[in-house]
Amino acid sequence: MTNLREVLDGAVVMAPMTKGGNLPYRRLCQELGADVTMSEMVVAHNLVKGSKSEYALIKRAADERHFAVQVAGSREDSLVEAVKVIEQRGASWIDLNCGCPIESMTRKGLGSSLLQRPTKLGRLVAAMKAAVSIPVTVKIRLGYDDDALNYMTVARAAVEGGADAIGVHGRTRTQRYRKLASWEAVGEVAAAVPVPVIGNGDILFPRDIVRGREVAKCAAVMIARGALIKPWIFREAKTGVDEDPTPEERLALYRRYVAIGLEHFGDDERGRKRLRGFLEWHLQWWCRHVPRRPDGTYPQMQEREEHFSPRSEWEAFLWRNDPAAHQWLATYLLDGEAAAGPRPPLPEAGGGERDEMPEG
Ligand SMILES: Cc1cc2nc3c(=O)[nH]c(=O)nc-3n(C[C@H](O)[C@H](O)[C@H](O)COP(=O)(O)O)c2cc1C
Repeated sequence: MTNLREVLDGAVVMAPMTKGGNLPYRRLCQELGADVTMSEMVVAHNLVKGSKSEYALIKRAADERHFAVQVAGSREDSLVEAVKVIEQRGASWIDLNCGCPIESMTRKGLGSSLLQRPTKLGRLVAAMKAAVSIPVTVKIRLGYDDDALNYMTVARAAVEGGADAIGVHGRTRTQRYRKLASWEAVGEVAAAVPVPVIGNGDILFPRDIVRGREVAKCAAVMIARGALIKPWIFREAKTGVDEDPTPEERLALYRRYVAIGLEHFGDDERGRKRLRGFLEWHLQWWCRHVPRRPDGTYPQMQEREEHFSPRSEWEAFLWRNDPAAHQWLATYLLDGEAAAGPRPPLPEAGGGERDEMPEG
């Protein structure tokens, strides 16, 4: 049985991420140093109905050390049934999603809409706790919107319901990624509740971890987009040193992901097709990596770095964010250089460069 306090003390957690938390990517991040991995969000109601795709999300890799499954639900009965299945399938603990901002979810009372109903949230946690013997945690935001910053009330309600730890993403639902996360708010929660707090928001470099810990004095930190952009952030978290991997080193990591992916999805036509879908998605994040600026300042995650000058042809190619480049790279990584053929030329201005970060 997991001793959550011990596991979380000083831990660096890979955040729950729809699509991004696929099993092969979690294994890659664990290899690079993630102390805890978390599943993609699982909808309780769909799991209980027996949805095959939902069952796939709760599968734990054989070598996954601490694997938490995140569940979304708004009804006691389906949550209770779902957590029993999740426990039986070997999760280390269960996390209740109270942060998902997507309208199709909040409309049904799931995700961040639970922030509007702290009493209900506490009741759901209590019911989940009573149904399983593994720990139950809760991941919250600062509020449903900027006029309703009720994170202290919500955190206390979760703890009263029996939550064994609280994850705090230091933004409200409506802020999305527009504002920087408030680690001061994470710290307020950490100082007030008797359970470990996991701080989350905007970690991209080791110094962000140091700062977050300093400001919030929380037990653990959690990384989402940073892990998608540069999975070696987990190694940096251990050494405290900024890495500046060469394109060859980056490609070696991406190839490692392909190897783990083929192991998982199967090295046949079907498995390769699935993996290619994930690869093309991951490439939209990997292409965002930029090292620390030559003047020593740090790039941010919210926007694509404007003044980045690639230092080699390969670095320039890995920086490209257009579908042709990503399709070529997916073939190159999956099938090798000969199969990929010549690299595609840069698209005409406005011809395919993506601006937005991909959605989960
Ligand atoms: C692609 C993607 C998918 C996400 N899916 C989930 C999810 O399923 N459950 C969840 O609680 N948060 C999800 N999040 C939010 C992250 O867990 C995290 O709270 C947020 O991105 C802030 O952390 P960051 O600044 O390190 O990215 C997702 C984020 C991204 C980028």
